[in-house]
Amino acid sequence: MRTSFSAEETGGLGPIVLEHPPGSFEPTAASRIGLLTVGRHQDLLGGVGVDWGCGVGVLAIATALVPSVEKVVGLDVAPANVEQAHTNAEINRVEDRTAFHVADSMSPVDAGGAAVLEGLTGRVDFVVANPPASVGDDGFGFRRRVMEDVAPFLVAGGIVLLNVSAQYGMARVLALQSGVFTYQGMLESTDAVPFDQARPDLAENLADYVAEEARGGVTYEFLSAAGETISATEARRRYQATGSSPLSRWQVHLFRKGEWPAVTA
Ligand SMILES: C[S@@+](CC[C@H](N)C(=O)[O-])C[C@H]1O[C@@H](n2cnc3c(N)ncnc32)[C@H](O)[C@@H]1O
Repeated sequence: MRTSFSAEETGGLGPIVLEHPPGSFEPTAASRIGLLTVGRHQDLLGGVGVDWGCGVGVLAIATALVPSVEKVVGLDVAPANVEQAHTNAEINRVEDRTAFHVADSMSPVDAGGAAVLEGLTGRVDFVVANPPASVGDDGFGFRRRVMEDVAPFLVAGGIVLLNVSAQYGMARVLALQSGVFTYQGMLESTDAVPFDQARPDLAENLADYVAEEARGGVTYEFLSAAGETISATEARRRYQATGSSPLSRWQVHLFRKGEWPAVTA
């Protein structure tokens, strides 16, 4: 399968073409807002970057198209994604500025990748990350892991462009600062769109959120069609009663390593 992104969809970086055969990650709406963010906010980017959980390479390739970016290392736990990201980098002619390695978070599985990552400690200028939802907890586990694991690799003042969909709520987003990062605001957001319960992964996510609310965790913030903020528990109740998925927004937030003037959410 193949997806083509227009110059408008890449925020002015030019067209990007991605192949994603079965068994590799197919870019989603979250990938699209991540891509648009890179293009529209390319002035934030330069030097050396990491794409955490690169899938078939969409964000790594986009950042590599930014003229001030020298090198981007894409990491993914799935070998099929890493292999396809290499191919996609060649298709988009950024293979000289990208490298892809199989890794569990920031820990590569092979010696070559380990050597590359060792050399990047304290030298990374930016990280782009569109992490998956974690399963069996509050869904936010991978975001916390990304922030913790990338921190030692970033230069002082280095940035993280992190995909977080709106239903997680700002309390969870701000907690990611954890004394290491300063939250610098939301870069891009989609309109309110269905958190499509016909998608098995999103149905599983909503079930996890309901369980988290039952455990007393921070309440999620979905939107109803009428624009009210509703919890995950209420969102699922309404879906079961009416078949209408709750709404959320796909968004990208900016964090900077170190203490910086705070940005009010
Ligand atoms: C939501 S997808 C995003 C892919 C791509 N960045 C995009 O925007 O289309 C999350 C990616 O994280 C990868 N992933 C999951 N767990 C990981 C881990 N522990 N370490 C590295 N990558 C991981 C998945 O294989 C998947 O490709």
